[in-house]
Amino acid sequence: MFPKQRLRRLRRSENIRKMVQETHLSLDDLVYPVFVGEGLSEPQVIESMPGIRRIPPQMVHDEMQEIRADGISAVMLFGIPKVKDGLGSAAYDQDGVVQNAIRETRRSTPDMVIMADVCMCQYTDTGHCGIYKKGAVDNDTTIQYLGEIATSYAKAGVDVVSPSAMMDGQVAAIREHLDKGGYTNVAIMAHSAKHHSSLYAPFRDAADCAPKQGDRSEYQVSYANPRQAMMEVALDIEEGVDIVMIKPAMTYLDLVAESRRRFDIPIAAYSVSGEYALVHAAHAQGMIDKNAVMLEVLGSIKRAGADIIITYFAREVSGLLR
Ligand code: PBG
Ligand code: ZN
Repeated sequence: MFPKQRLRRLRRSENIRKMVQETHLSLDDLVYPVFVGEGLSEPQVIESMPGIRRIPPQMVHDEMQEIRADGISAVMLFGIPKVKDGLGSAAYDQDGVVQNAIRETRRSTPDMVIMADVCMCQYTDTGHCGIYKKGAVDNDTTIQYLGEIATSYAKAGVDVVSPSAMMDGQVAAIREHLDKGGYTNVAIMAHSAKHHSSLYAPFRDAADCAPKQGDRSEYQVSYANPRQAMMEVALDIEEGVDIVMIKPAMTYLDLVAESRRRFDIPIAAYSVSGEYALVHAAHAQGMIDKNAVMLEVLGSIKRAGADIIITYFAREVSGLLR
């Protein structure tokens, strides 16, 4: 104890500090979300997400090369279709916006890790993450559709499918569909503990997927229920998931840390649109230093135990990490 032990000894110079640095943020850990809008002729800015745009399908090729040139090796694709209907049919159309973007990405950047969101809320006329039956989202019908969507992405050449619908049994159903189709090598990164969060608001502008009526509390986990969240993670592992995800990130770091303690499977954390918007809004007001805060936020997610971070900051932070 003091005066013998002095922790300041190892903080005396930058190079000593670097030697004892315990956790590291790397570009290799980051996944950049990309929004593709069917039928767009120009990119569309998203007011609530400064710097993020919906891009037209014909821009996917060049955009992917630019993202790759920034040193980012993984993207998460989201599609905004032209047509929505009761069965979300554009979601599993082999000529759909995501399926085409997967093929185009594979052509333009063959070594890009292609991940794609598997859900129905952009595609259903209700804006809910599943098929509506008798006034509610029908779980067991929906998971069959999620299996169809995943298989259509696999056909297009996806590496990782990422179900975000929070339906029970979605991982098992998707695994079964993929394996039956011969896509045993396509991995599943599930939004395992996806919370009913107000931090998704900017994303709903970006993806046009807000529920027309009600909310998602019947399928997403309450922020007050950490034990349920851990059950979600455990069940996904039993169902054969390859990577689990905690979402959002910043306000759920306790669950990232708890998952790291309990499980050996890779863990992803999704730093969601609201987390991005908070930092940008405060920066625009001159209240914080965006770059420093961005590094601290992403660093804290790593420190909590995440292997992978899905983040809208990926491109902005790339220059700082290289
Ligand atoms: C919908 C979906 C949402 C997000 C990803 N997929 C929003 C929601 O559940 O309403 C949020 C991502 C973000 O806010 O960045 N399946
Ligand atoms: Zn959804």
